[in-house]
Amino acid sequence: MTSSQLSGKHAIAIRGAFLDLVNDPFHAPETECVRYLPDGLLVVEDGIIRAFGAYQALQETYGQWPTVEYGDRLILPGLIDCHIHYPQTPVIASYGAQLMEWLDTYTFPAEGKFHDAEYARAIADFFLDELLRNGTTTALVLTTIFPESVTAFFEAAEQRNLRMIAGQMLMSRYAPDFLIDDPHTAAAQTREQIQTWHNKGRLRYAITPRFAITSTPEELMLVGKLKAEFPDVYVHTHLSENAQEIELTAELFPECKDYLQVYEQFGLVGDRSIFAHCIHLSESELERMAAAGGAIAFCPTSNLFLGSGLFPLERAKTDIRVGLATDVGGGSSFSMFYTMTEAYKIAQLQGYSLSAFRALYLATLGAAETLDLQDTIGNFEVGKEADFIVLDRHATPLLALRNAKPLPQTLAEVSEQLFSLMVLGDDRLIHATHIAGQRVGI
Ligand code: GUN
Ligand code: ZN
Repeated sequence: MTSSQLSGKHAIAIRGAFLDLVNDPFHAPETECVRYLPDGLLVVEDGIIRAFGAYQALQETYGQWPTVEYGDRLILPGLIDCHIHYPQTPVIASYGAQLMEWLDTYTFPAEGKFHDAEYARAIADFFLDELLRNGTTTALVLTTIFPESVTAFFEAAEQRNLRMIAGQMLMSRYAPDFLIDDPHTAAAQTREQIQTWHNKGRLRYAITPRFAITSTPEELMLVGKLKAEFPDVYVHTHLSENAQEIELTAELFPECKDYLQVYEQFGLVGDRSIFAHCIHLSESELERMAAAGGAIAFCPTSNLFLGSGLFPLERAKTDIRVGLATDVGGGSSFSMFYTMTEAYKIAQLQGYSLSAFRALYLATLGAAETLDLQDTIGNFEVGKEADFIVLDRHATPLLALRNAKPLPQTLAEVSEQLFSLMVLGDDRLIHATHIAGQRVGI
């Protein structure tokens, strides 16, 4: 059965096994954070969750609504990717380089093509479809220095009614000529785009200096002014990813005692600032980040693929918001499940194990908190937007063998199955993706 009109509104109910997080399992016992309803009902009206609970309890009120039954499949909130470069999609999986050489060899030439609006739109369409195929329904996205690449992305996201955050990449030095902007022009373009796209439908804007190396102090100053003028837009950049990058940053900003101070001095560290990587931050930088309310995008596949280092997740999560991210094309997969597994391995290499529920939190509610979208998405709370995914626990022969047991009933059983889905799963795990209640083609 599909959705229909009920008293003039778009109404649909979903019945199945639901799993979400209602609290941070890094700071409270998992039993208080995980919600699992083996037979639940999610009631959606005009894209918003109107009711959620056990089927038995809601059946009387909503039994007559058009209902989609997902049987023994597992329904999760849509996954959230806190840092990803859409223009790098064509160069994902490029061989043999660490950050600075990888940027020069593969990334900059790839980004140089995005002055072409038609090409940009084609890649934006491909990228968004690939996200949806992987169960990712929201992302914080980097573009290029070309306004055409920003327009193409926002138009493609708007057409799909997706909740997305993005912004024009700012870079005025240390890049090939074809990727250098003029700081004043770039700031004016950013300003115009904020006015066009920020809070338009489900879209939001992020002011996006690439990183300290590629912006002159003048450009960072202009960016800081924009942030002061539009305090509720995001700031999105890279921080402390790679040893060579940190060394060059120190040379370029000798007046700063460390990397974070480069951003601090221009007013760029606050509660709507998201910093990708943050692998090598000092204790002082971590403390200042926590005090300012900044958030971190943890990019495990990228950190391993580019050989950047092991992110100190356990330390960061003591007082900083952290969300999971793929960082495609430095990252090697669009799948947030694969990304969770690599996060698990990074924790293992540092002597602790990341539970399946903590990993899922980092890709759902924790990611929503990282992006200051916790009132809007991240779980099945009534009033939130109904972006969710349906997993086929038997999607491959190996998954079917590993998950031969019926739907889990206890939290321990859920944890066990979720962990195996996370480690063995990829895009094939995603049976359906729903955006604002509606199932989309994947
Ligand atoms: N630092 C500056 N630019 C980039 C980028 O495109 N990818 C990654 N991983 N790090 C960066
Ligand atoms: Zn990145």
